[in-house]
Amino acid sequence: MSNLTTEDIDAVCGLVDDLCGIYWDASKAYLIESRLSSLMRSSNAANYLDLVRKVRAGVAPGLKEQVIDAVTTNETLWFRDNSPFEALRHKVIPEVIDSKTKSLSPRRLRIWSAASSTGQESYSIAMALADIIYDYQTWDIQIVGTDISPAAVAHAQQGRYNKLEVSRGLDVAYRDKYFVDEGDHWLVRDSLRKMCTFSVRNLHQPFIGLGPFDIVFCRNVAIYFTAPDRRSLFERMADTLTPSGWLFVGSSESLSDLGARWAPQEHCRATCYQPNLAKAYSPARLATAQDW
Ligand SMILES: C[S@@+](CC[C@H](N)C(=O)[O-])C[C@H]1O[C@@H](n2cnc3c(N)ncnc32)[C@H](O)[C@@H]1O
Repeated sequence: MSNLTTEDIDAVCGLVDDLCGIYWDASKAYLIESRLSSLMRSSNAANYLDLVRKVRAGVAPGLKEQVIDAVTTNETLWFRDNSPFEALRHKVIPEVIDSKTKSLSPRRLRIWSAASSTGQESYSIAMALADIIYDYQTWDIQIVGTDISPAAVAHAQQGRYNKLEVSRGLDVAYRDKYFVDEGDHWLVRDSLRKMCTFSVRNLHQPFIGLGPFDIVFCRNVAIYFTAPDRRSLFERMADTLTPSGWLFVGSSESLSDLGARWAPQEHCRATCYQPNLAKAYSPARLATAQDW
């Protein structure tokens, strides 16, 4: 039996929406209790309504970030779903490299893992790049990982994973090649870490200073948003990609309802999207086309 009142539920759902743009309603009462009850106790809040009041009033330093860490679902693994990484190796990276050969920076790659969680997605992308670009260490490569959860970002920045984390989707050959054995943990080697940066970002806020990217991974995050927020996210994301850029979404996600803005393509059993030029870019963005 839940002890939550309607006021508790409304207050927490409103807070979660305001902080993260994650949609919760009364059907998520079990999540409110499982994710926030210990935080309610440790912050000496009398009830959930009081916890929300404390966060909104900013009276307890760090409490807002703790709530964000608690309400986000950071589930991830190495080479998640596999097929996007096959498409990346065999189709997308070779095509991106080809499209850049005549540009001013043919050896520069910019990739965004939007909602990078604890870093497995970014480092998997780095391993896929290392697989097919033999001299990748001499390239100018940046894999920009962003996530709203400060704890997840800190974990990604450390690049240290326990045995259970390392066992989830990571081939032993990759583990031995790209990680240092620290006994209880495995540390990502510098050759991969040098390519990856991580920072806290809310996808609902403007993408100032982000892009242009050759490839964007935005997987398993928009499923938590309302339909209008999800639409807005992918519309704004088109402006962060180069005209020949590629977008990967989660295996259970599709952009088919967003009209002609995104052109789907099937490669290696993965659906990837390219911006449909005329439809994808805002007039302001098209005016800067010579900078791409
Ligand atoms: C299920 S994980 C997906 C991780 C990775 N992309 C993957 O597919 O394995 C979802 C991530 O989205 C992040 N997230 C949720 N809302 C967000 C928002 N508004 N802005 C940025 N990241 C958000 C969460 O913190 C969480 O780490």
